[in-house]
Amino acid sequence: MPSWIRDCWYVIAWDHEIAPASDTGPLFSRTVLGEPIVVLRAADGTPVALEDRCCHRHAPLSRGRREGDSVRCGYHGLRFDLDGRCVEAPGMERPPARAQVRRYPVAVRNGWVFVWPGDPARADPAWLPDNFSCAQLQWHHRPGYLHYDANWLLICDNLLDFSHLSYVHERTLGGSVAIAQARPEIDPIDGPGAPGIRVRRFVPDIDTPPYYRAMGVTVPRVDRWFDYDFVLPGTLLMASGGRPAGQAPDDPRDTVRLHSCQTLTPETEHTTHYFFQQSHRGDVADPALVDGMFRVLTAAFEEDRQMITAQARTIALDPTRRMLPLHIDAALLRFRDLVAQARAREAGADTAAVPAARVVA
Ligand code: FES
Ligand SMILES: [Fe+2]
Repeated sequence: MPSWIRDCWYVIAWDHEIAPASDTGPLFSRTVLGEPIVVLRAADGTPVALEDRCCHRHAPLSRGRREGDSVRCGYHGLRFDLDGRCVEAPGMERPPARAQVRRYPVAVRNGWVFVWPGDPARADPAWLPDNFSCAQLQWHHRPGYLHYDANWLLICDNLLDFSHLSYVHERTLGGSVAIAQARPEIDPIDGPGAPGIRVRRFVPDIDTPPYYRAMGVTVPRVDRWFDYDFVLPGTLLMASGGRPAGQAPDDPRDTVRLHSCQTLTPETEHTTHYFFQQSHRGDVADPALVDGMFRVLTAAFEEDRQMITAQARTIALDPTRRMLPLHIDAALLRFRDLVAQARAREAGADTAAVPAARVVA
């Protein structure tokens, strides 16, 4: 049984990845929860998501071509409208009523294009995350994407425990063992949007990390904070920053303020799409600074990818081996409980029967 929840919004693409309706180039396709999905725009620019599997012989529709507000399969020429209904079958007076492909609910918010793979009747806009810094002009970033050869939950685990910053990101985002030593506050988020876990970590008086130096911070020691929500299905929304060690919180001098939006979309049980950005605030965009910060961020996220894919390979050698839960796993274990409860609900099972995760040390 797959590890994911179906009734959720999943990011399938950054908005800029989907070509305009007038484009005659290749069609955009990406696999989400094991389902190939082709995304194209209607004439008014609205993205439309259809199953990327022709109902005839299962060729990908994305290997066909767009014809006005329709898609023609490139194998034997069936033509589908943007509701997924076959409107033309070469050599037939009219296509059979069963000739159709699935159309997914789609939402676009602040540069992220979402699909809802579950029951369309349950697609709830209130569950879309508030990824405001992907679109507001005073928040500057470059959009990022990484592909992972690992199950999505291993990456959720990583984002729910920042103690790894001290070790995996020693030379990029971290730089001090004090981050691993600080105990975060962990609280549930019960809605009205998607449920999740709130994590807050304050780390006073530590070495200025290399990432801040790339932003021109020259003080040797800073107080740092990481405040984030991690919501279903796997989205991190984080306000973080730092100020010269000991400086009053209401004193804005030399203060770094960041907002980051990151989200995980399972491609298959063993592979994952990772969409991310980390923005800094400023009245004017400085392209050199934006590029410099993006370089450090992607170098750091590559450090995560190397560690997590190595971890996934080790787990795959013997998936029956038990892990050793520690106090630093508290947030990720609670999040895994939320996933387990949501999966039980979808399966019509008793959610009270889902065992609570236990922290033993
Ligand atoms: S597979 Fe699409 S028309 Fe035959
Ligand atoms: Fe990391």
